[in-house]
Amino acid sequence: MKINVAVDGPAGAGKSTLAKAAAKELGFIYVDTGALYRSIAYYVIKKGADPKSAEQVVPLLDEINPELRYTDGVQHVFVNGEDVSGLIRTPEISMGASGVSAIPQVREFLFKLQKDIAAENNIIMDGRDIGTVVLPHAQVKVYLTASDKVRADRRYKELCEKGQAPSYDEVLADIRQRDYNDMNRDISPLRQAEDAVLLDTSDDTLEQALQRLVSLIKEKM
Ligand code: DC
Repeated sequence: MKINVAVDGPAGAGKSTLAKAAAKELGFIYVDTGALYRSIAYYVIKKGADPKSAEQVVPLLDEINPELRYTDGVQHVFVNGEDVSGLIRTPEISMGASGVSAIPQVREFLFKLQKDIAAENNIIMDGRDIGTVVLPHAQVKVYLTASDKVRADRRYKELCEKGQAPSYDEVLADIRQRDYNDMNRDISPLRQAEDAVLLDTSDDTLEQALQRLVSLIKEKM
């Protein structure tokens, strides 16, 4: 029986940074499911289609083969054999991913891929619906969050470090818009699973948040 840890929460809560570091410490595989939704958005946008339009997106699913591959424990996302890992981290793709993720056929399309990885490996999987829908029987469930201002602050610094020059107000507005989209869509909306532990990292340094997350996982394992 493999150990499955589900980490859900809103955009910019530090899920990927923390889940990745915790996985390394525990010797687990880290699975970033947002990257899968982003890879669909990437393909759809490249084709000139509207990520929010089910009518335009659904027919394209037949042409998309998303894959997760791991090199030295690091996740790479491939679309039809192309490594798109670096290309899917832009504000346009973030919003596009939020758009395609509200389409039921897209969620269904990615469901089996996520289930299969979890069945075969000890994993920490992060996303929006992992504890509620994808892995309802995960041994450990965490709902990771922080205030929207703290999350916008972190995202702003991250984008600046990557050499992008965003406006802080836009980053905050984007976070709020994505929270709204992710929490209010009809299918698999973001919410804390009943049996998930709430971890609010607004007042934590990265190291403090990581230690809280790792202790929590060890306690429940
Ligand atoms: O975690 P992220 O920012 O990379 O996710 C991008 C978008 O994908 C996010 O706005 C909502 C969607 N998503 C989802 O609906 N379900 C998941 N399990 C992961 C991401």
